[in-house]
Amino acid sequence: MAVRSLGYWGIEVSDPAAWRHFLVDQIGLIEGGKGADGADVYRSDAYASRVRIYQGPADDVTVTGWEVAGADALREIADALSAGGYDAQPGGEALARARQVEDLIVVDDPDGIRVEIFWGAERARRPFASAVTPGGFVTGEDGVGHFVILARNQARTLHFYQDLLGLKLSDYIRLGHPDGSSSHLTFMHANARHHSLAFGEVPFAPKRKVQHISFQTEEMSDVGFALDRFGAEQTPLAMTIGHHPNCGTFSFYVRSPSGIDVELGWGSREVDDATWVPKTYSQLSDWGHQVQLPLVEPADA
Ligand SMILES: [Fe+2]
Repeated sequence: MAVRSLGYWGIEVSDPAAWRHFLVDQIGLIEGGKGADGADVYRSDAYASRVRIYQGPADDVTVTGWEVAGADALREIADALSAGGYDAQPGGEALARARQVEDLIVVDDPDGIRVEIFWGAERARRPFASAVTPGGFVTGEDGVGHFVILARNQARTLHFYQDLLGLKLSDYIRLGHPDGSSSHLTFMHANARHHSLAFGEVPFAPKRKVQHISFQTEEMSDVGFALDRFGAEQTPLAMTIGHHPNCGTFSFYVRSPSGIDVELGWGSREVDDATWVPKTYSQLSDWGHQVQLPLVEPADA
């Protein structure tokens, strides 16, 4: 049994008003009201909830919601997590209503990110329509987007997401550094989206557990319009426009008000499990993506 898609993120932020401007006016999500859990809820498609913003000091992604097909699948994943030594707990009715799903279980992943596995996501009453990203976002069965974990132990992270949540390997990027060290990034999919999750280790304790989250637009021009909006407001980019050879994404990275980066991309390759063969790439980008800001801050910064 496996999760079907990445359903939502919960992000704890010190400045929710800045995030409203960032998500709605700059990226093009729409407001979905106030959640019963205190969240400012944002939508990127027909789902009632895709991004949940909570006020707090973490300035990090603190919750990830993964969708399964129904009650039987939820039970099977709960059993697999328990057998794997993870303490998966029923979320209960009040939390399910608050998160706008039928039912969910809750478990901490190996890095302490709260993982909520759910089924029965509420649909919004009104269709999705973005004033600034008119083409909308690639979501649906592909889920909300992807995110990158700065793992403490990549073997444990791989075991959790591959063997217990059922994600599959997409590919690796192995980067050599001038000092002779190397970084190893693992990309995993839950559906046709090339990756819903990527992770790698850094050789120091990072300030945040999540390096970036990503939204994918349906139209290439919506990436360009967003780039112009960020430029007009002098919002700092973390990486300039560029192209990833593994997933085929044309994207740029902007620094969010919380220091987490947000990748806005287009044109990602889709995965067909019947024919997919994982590869190892030796570069993050084949053009562009010039680094403008330190991509990972140490914990004591
Ligand atoms: Fe990304």
